[in-house]
Amino acid sequence: MAAENKDNTLMEKLSALCKRRGFIFQSSEIYGGINGFWDYGPLGVELKRNVKNAWWEDVVRRRDDIVGLDCSIIMNPKVWEASGHVGGFNDPMVDCKECKARFRVDKVFTVVIRDKNDGIILTAVVEADDEQSALQEARRSANSKTRRKFANTKDDLSETVLRTDELSKDEVCPCPKCGGELTEPRQFNLMFKSHAGASEDSASVVYLRPETAQGIFANFKNVLDTSRLKLPFGIAQIGKAFRNEINPRNYTFRSREFEQMEIEFFCRADEADKWYEYWRDARFQWYIDHGLKSEKLRLRNHETDELAHYARACADVEYEFPFGVSELEGIANRTDYDLKAHQEASGRDMTYFDDETRERFIPYVIEPSGGVDRAVLAFLCEAYTEDEQPDDKGKMQSRVVMKFHPRIAPIKVAVFPLVKKEGMPEVARKIHAACRDAGLASFYDEKGAIGRRYRRQDEAGTPLCVTVDGQTIEDDTVTIRDRDSLLQQRIAAGDVVSFVQERIS
Ligand code: GAP
Repeated sequence: MAAENKDNTLMEKLSALCKRRGFIFQSSEIYGGINGFWDYGPLGVELKRNVKNAWWEDVVRRRDDIVGLDCSIIMNPKVWEASGHVGGFNDPMVDCKECKARFRVDKVFTVVIRDKNDGIILTAVVEADDEQSALQEARRSANSKTRRKFANTKDDLSETVLRTDELSKDEVCPCPKCGGELTEPRQFNLMFKSHAGASEDSASVVYLRPETAQGIFANFKNVLDTSRLKLPFGIAQIGKAFRNEINPRNYTFRSREFEQMEIEFFCRADEADKWYEYWRDARFQWYIDHGLKSEKLRLRNHETDELAHYARACADVEYEFPFGVSELEGIANRTDYDLKAHQEASGRDMTYFDDETRERFIPYVIEPSGGVDRAVLAFLCEAYTEDEQPDDKGKMQSRVVMKFHPRIAPIKVAVFPLVKKEGMPEVARKIHAACRDAGLASFYDEKGAIGRRYRRQDEAGTPLCVTVDGQTIEDDTVTIRDRDSLLQQRIAAGDVVSFVQERIS
């Protein structure tokens, strides 16, 4: 229980820090907010941009076999008919007849905990993402008497967790919020609808894209004809996607408006297994390389019965968030399903001609599909650290430090004059300008005690802080402080740029 409580507290502390320091705000907060929508503040927007830039740099700019694309959010609705989203992008949902709350059927669980004599210790209906989180949630909801029973009988308990849609017909599942009666499940399409043009009739219905992938498939021929790429090759896109999620939850994790970073990597059918494995491993490694510790990061291969009907293989990169283990990115072998579907629906040729083998065929596609906001949330969770450091008088003070990987840290270096006089601000501003000129995100701060300025940068996750002091004026050296080790060393003022560049690379 202690670990669960700690994790809950961690999420609360993290969201409080994100609001206080300008990483993430609730959308339209001044009007009470809107469920499932979030805004990124001054630090958050830099963090998110750095994540997107790192991805773009690694999968597009540094490769010869992938090109980029930026498609419109609203497309011809026939795209979504052909892709199967109009007919099949549904979640089954139930409504509470009493409190009117709405739930995804597969996210409502009945948890029963029994002792060794089969006596029921706890029955709870909870809303959660998976069985494990449902069990945790049910245990959390228990009163203190039941918790004592857990503690006394911990090895002799049997736990049953059932999804609402796994219950038999005569088992009734009440509302997890108020205990009221739930309606029969109904299908709920997740696409946001709008109208294009002046008239609001069925002919003008359009959808906000629920994934960026379909824009890539619809442009497959355009890219092929204009780029002269040969198989295997990929098309990458970063952009907004919208899903009218029944129950947005877990901070930004499940939102109604979010960003995706997707690659559609086209290859020959007989090479698809090889490329699937390549991308699955490469994408997993990418998160490790950007600071997600291996033990919290997992790669889960889907069982055959979990696969979508068009997919031949699929794996999820998962992260252990404080609220449970959840998906950051999915890597799937989607076969030739999508291009075939668009060829049939549009009547346009989607084949590739291999001029060596003289064959014409529709390529297979491997799709690494990640969520930008989920990656950002994982990086935020991983970075959040509380530790202790000595203050000016040597007394230990606790601090919060965001230990971002330098490549994604919103600010790379902060420059401070120790005091606002004796020529120090002028020198500090010069160093700040030199850092900026070198393309480093630099922050200048001359307000408040130096210890407080350091702590503010620790919360922002700034890897290095440079301080100009009395000695700088005498010998042109500055102190440079490392965020994680807290070590301070003196270096020549003229070496600051190269020092920072080397340390963050
Ligand atoms: N083109 C395939 C596709 O869209 P998906 O698993 O539905 O697959 C891919 O979505 C990724 O998009 C997920 O792994 C997740 O990171 C992100 N994502 C999906 N729904 C999301 C939501 N409601 N909020 C935030 N991110 C979401």
